[in-house]
Amino acid sequence: MTMKVERYTFDAVIVGAGGAGLRAALTLAEAGLRTAVLTKVFPTRSHTVAAQGGVAASLGNSTPDHWHWHMYDTVKGSDWLGDQDAIEFMCRKANEVVIELEHFGMPFDRTDDGRIYQRPFGGHSMNYGEAPVMRSCAAADRTGHAMLHTLYQRNVRAKTQFFVEWMALDLIRNSEGDVLGVTALEMESGNVAIFHGRATIFATGGAGRIYASSTNAFINTGDGLGMAARAGIPLEDMEFWQFHPTGVAGAGVLITEGVRGEGGVLRNCHGERFMERYAPNLKDLASRDVVARAMVTEINEGRGCGPNKDYVWLDLTHLPPETILKRLPGIREIALQFAGVDPIQAPIPVVPTVHYQMGGIPTNYRAQVVVPKGEDLEVPVAGFYAAGECACASVHGANRLGTNSLLDLLVFGKTAGEEVVKEVRSGTLPLKPLPKDAADQSLARLARLEQATSGERVPEVLRDLQQTMQKHAGVFRFAKLLKEGVEKILAIEERVQRTFIEDRSRVWNTARIEALELENMIEVAKATMISAEARRESRGAHVRDDCPDTPEFPNGRNDRDWLKHTLWYREGNRLRYKPVHLQPLSPETEPIAPAKRTY
Ligand code: FUM
Repeated sequence: MTMKVERYTFDAVIVGAGGAGLRAALTLAEAGLRTAVLTKVFPTRSHTVAAQGGVAASLGNSTPDHWHWHMYDTVKGSDWLGDQDAIEFMCRKANEVVIELEHFGMPFDRTDDGRIYQRPFGGHSMNYGEAPVMRSCAAADRTGHAMLHTLYQRNVRAKTQFFVEWMALDLIRNSEGDVLGVTALEMESGNVAIFHGRATIFATGGAGRIYASSTNAFINTGDGLGMAARAGIPLEDMEFWQFHPTGVAGAGVLITEGVRGEGGVLRNCHGERFMERYAPNLKDLASRDVVARAMVTEINEGRGCGPNKDYVWLDLTHLPPETILKRLPGIREIALQFAGVDPIQAPIPVVPTVHYQMGGIPTNYRAQVVVPKGEDLEVPVAGFYAAGECACASVHGANRLGTNSLLDLLVFGKTAGEEVVKEVRSGTLPLKPLPKDAADQSLARLARLEQATSGERVPEVLRDLQQTMQKHAGVFRFAKLLKEGVEKILAIEERVQRTFIEDRSRVWNTARIEALELENMIEVAKATMISAEARRESRGAHVRDDCPDTPEFPNGRNDRDWLKHTLWYREGNRLRYKPVHLQPLSPETEPIAPAKRTY
């Protein structure tokens, strides 16, 4: 295909305009660097907008709190797979990034004495697990919406340059492996351009749409992960996917954990508050993986609710209506629209639904993308940074705590920006020449789609991919299903290579975008299934039937053989492993020693 390829040059090229991308862009633009942000949707429609319950920070506005308690909860929540240096960094920085947002004008809810309102959330505790703590800073149940609008407005003021409805296609690397920018497609015109930069920051969010039932927006197709994988960068810990306990049954729409933070409880068909049996201490506010498994166990053992006994109730009816109207107005709206119930009067039917990807592009706590080179397992890729859900720092390990995601994207988005500013100013990030073939890979992908007149239909392949993920890599995992899942996903990959676009006259560009997204989703699906099949233990969100709770391996977790991060490489579907950072960042900080996880 002969096509004119425009070239744009910036200091920094950011892909994604959710919380991480906007926070990075703000630091860069305010420092006077020429900053481009590419985004598939208008920035304030990025998926961060859907975050409901809050952003974690140990401000201690309503109950005593400490950053080390937050660090302890996060390490324990991660089932000890999280890197303790990165977790310390994030928890120590939390107050700074939240107060900064307050100063940017973010409309947080307030306590009676005017401070930021905080609510309890699952797995967050005071004094190392003693009792729930109020740590999640909230703007009603629309915290992500408030945050995204605040950050976008600040970026407009800072003169960040947005390329709206542009889809990044491929990462550009030179023969040394340095990253020089991306190729991208303007969705309206079909034009392709090269965005050449000193630094490239991926903030492309997650890939929850690889599952059939997801709280994620349709845009969450793992584009950053697909681009990284095609460019030879491994993906880390992709076997760990979070199922949020409370998606509306049948619809998948998120009902914030903040509902349970405000006092809502889960009940089975007997009206029993069953979490008291599974997590006697934190009960409904145990960690998400624990609650999701408890719900599925209740359903599997015949105590589900409704005509088919296939969901449980989330009951708020005992709460004062004022609490629901003031703190959870969006939830009431969602319950009315998607479940047809008013939560002031009746419980909401809920089921665990895919929500968050704990793994991603490997980074260190400075948001630099790091890959193995020879014996050294974490060598920064020059010019390449990642932050937010697409990155694996790894602060969430095998299971993320609620409201640590908004914290992660603020801390590491800001850090990515600061690192780039520092390097540009010190002269260590020069603009490197582009290779002659910089756009060839993207043009070849587009040409294949352009020329194919028959083959596999994208929606059908996508449906099979999603159903395979849902069945073979769910809340509970089964050795046999994982093995079959790998075979099925590899067969689906072959079909992805034979997709074609039908009916170009009517939906040409939309269909083309969906085909390109599918090429990214299959990379994420392969990474997930292959990494999950290979990890022979139960840890966090990855619980296998053949790795049960035993005295030798409590909860099925095998620290002897599996206290390590997975790295999946696209080439040959190769797996490699690297150790977890068990040492915190500061010498004076107490490490959190591995222990059996109970709530
Ligand atoms: O439940 C929620 O509001 C979701 C928060 C999160 O995923 O961090």
